[in-house]
Amino acid sequence: MSSQNSAPEYDAKKVVVVFVLGGPGSGKGTQCARLVRDYGFLHLSAGDLLRAEQTRPGSQYGAMIAEYIKDGKIVPMEVTIGLLRNAIQEALESNATSDKEGWGNGHGRFLIDGFPRKLDQLFKFEETVVPAQLTLFLYCTEEVMLKRLLLRGETSGRADDNIESIKKRFRTFVETSMPVVDCLRKRDVVAEVDGTKPVDDVYDHICQAMNAKFHQISTS
Ligand code: ADP
Ligand code: C5P
Ligand code: MG
Repeated sequence: MSSQNSAPEYDAKKVVVVFVLGGPGSGKGTQCARLVRDYGFLHLSAGDLLRAEQTRPGSQYGAMIAEYIKDGKIVPMEVTIGLLRNAIQEALESNATSDKEGWGNGHGRFLIDGFPRKLDQLFKFEETVVPAQLTLFLYCTEEVMLKRLLLRGETSGRADDNIESIKKRFRTFVETSMPVVDCLRKRDVVAEVDGTKPVDDVYDHICQAMNAKFHQISTS
């Protein structure tokens, strides 16, 4: 569907979106894996989608994405929103998810991890795709995130889990991504979670926020 529609493509009552935000290494992917297991959400990591597009044979964006990721810069929103929209559409149409609770008949539940990372992404996504119902924000110190990312870099094979890229990613996060969190905070839809704590403690806190917001979902 065209992004020039004045209304978002999906009804937020049917397509439930939770943004999962936090600095690089704050634990977004780790926590999303648990939420998928317990809440029937599908996990869409914007970074994972960009990395997959980067290596997709024939992609016109491959080289551009690689450069942006290595420099810790935010890929132009059209590319990322296009990938997210395709993934949402595919999941809603897929028979693989239609028998899961909260799915079928145009209904679905999505954790959108690492997006929006810039204000223009937030505004465009909610205007053209669907507004989010909740944001989980994992706050974490750079010291903790640096240690985790360097450790992850020993096995991740990621082009940006090295000290030069990490420093650039931290800077982008503070300058470009925190304004998104601040904007969402003004709307009172942000659950603030201490991401420095052990994985289980972080998850307990996240579950409290999810249960408070989606009582009807988690108990129905
Ligand atoms: P993000 O998706 O926010 O970049 P990840 O979930 O990939 O973060 O986590 C980054 C690294 O830190 C991974 O190696 C992960 O195993 C580890 N990690 C995640 N959460 C915690 C935590 N609460 N305590 C310690 N290590 C963690
Ligand atoms: O979330 P993740 O750490 O996997 O993101 C890796 C990189 O992908 C970011 O540093 C950025 O270059 C790019 N990205 C982006 N826009 C997003 C999410 C990720 O440009 N919304
Ligand atoms: Mg991640």
